Amino acid sequence: MQTPEFLLAPMDGMTRASFRSVCFDYGADGATTEMIQSLAYGRAKRPMSPAFQEVLARFPGERSLAAQLIGSDPAAMAESARRLEALGRFDAVDINMGCPARKVVGSGNGAALLKSPERAVAVMAAVKAATSLPVRLKLRLGWDAAHITAPLLVQQAEALGFQSVTLHGRTREQMYLGPVDVPAIRAVCDAARIPVYANGGVTCAADALTFLRDTHASGVAIGRAALKAPWIFEDIATLRRGGSVRSRRAPERVALLIRLATLTCAHRPEGVAVCEMRRFCGWILAGLTGFDAVLTRLNAVVTLDDYRALLEGYLDGLEKRGDLEIHPELLPKPTLDTVSHRQARRMAKWM
Ligand SMILES: Cc1cc2nc3c(=O)[nH]c(=O)nc-3n(C[C@H](O)[C@H](O)[C@H](O)COP(=O)(O)O)c2cc1C
Repeated sequence: MQTPEFLLAPMDGMTRASFRSVCFDYGADGATTEMIQSLAYGRAKRPMSPAFQEVLARFPGERSLAAQLIGSDPAAMAESARRLEALGRFDAVDINMGCPARKVVGSGNGAALLKSPERAVAVMAAVKAATSLPVRLKLRLGWDAAHITAPLLVQQAEALGFQSVTLHGRTREQMYLGPVDVPAIRAVCDAARIPVYANGGVTCAADALTFLRDTHASGVAIGRAALKAPWIFEDIATLRRGGSVRSRRAPERVALLIRLATLTCAHRPEGVAVCEMRRFCGWILAGLTGFDAVLTRLNAVVTLDDYRALLEGYLDGLEKRGDLEIHPELLPKPTLDTVSHRQARRMAKWM
């Protein structure tokens, strides 16, 4: 069996080049861009307008990167794939058949393709014919429990010569809630002759390895858990070598947040980039003494220099007190998933 791979799953609004770079630093084997609307991109007169430029940006150190397309119009998907290939910066094209958001499925895109297998196959064939880049598919098990179409679509992907498939072990009806169906993923993995990456519900490194073992997958794609702990990829490598994972102390967390903001400023206006850091600070600093007060003070910060000064000052204070460890009692109440269900529902709306 090939060495298993651990990928960063695509997340709209989150997995830009800057965050992906941090995950690559921690040893992620691959990543995917946020989804790109093929109707807009494939027909745009200026496909490299600033909005697209940011999503399509790639930093030099990114190991393996697929660009993800979403859409149900085969011609627009094909044209988008051609344009992506012409950029010469991606290792593969990925097709999104998993997005459950109402407005996305309402126009027949994302997970809606799971209940129209013929249309899904037409989209897959059009993209494959349009590009010489490897093509991948990301999908859910099916629309609902009564319509499990992943086995059929994975077979079609294989017949069309797709490179791999990432399978989120939930149906569209489940959105981001409820248990992931491990036996259903395993059945697909056992039948497939192309690599299948299992996805959904991983919360820590040990979880990822259990998921890999139980699904017989070629690797695991990790989404929300990486937002809170991008070092999950390093932890996985440590566990696989027989080591034990360590708790990340304040200096590493603060350095990571400063690096993330600095990288984000390469593609976003400074004020917007700093504003976006608030959610990452909420996830990464959680459990350190006084982290909630830092989050409040961050609300007034708009420049990278002030952001850095605030975090460095905070770290300085912790160092002086010798208080650099995470305090479990200060962590927000654990939820089933890294992003709470309420957040996930809200996110699903704008996905
Ligand atoms: C905020 C957010 C945005 C997402 N955006 C995308 C996307 O653009 N493309 C995609 O294929 N999946 C997207 N997903 C789904 C994730 O890739 C993944 O399949 C899902 O979160 C389950 O994995 P996890 O439990 O490890 O997070 C998104 C998920 C979240 C929470």
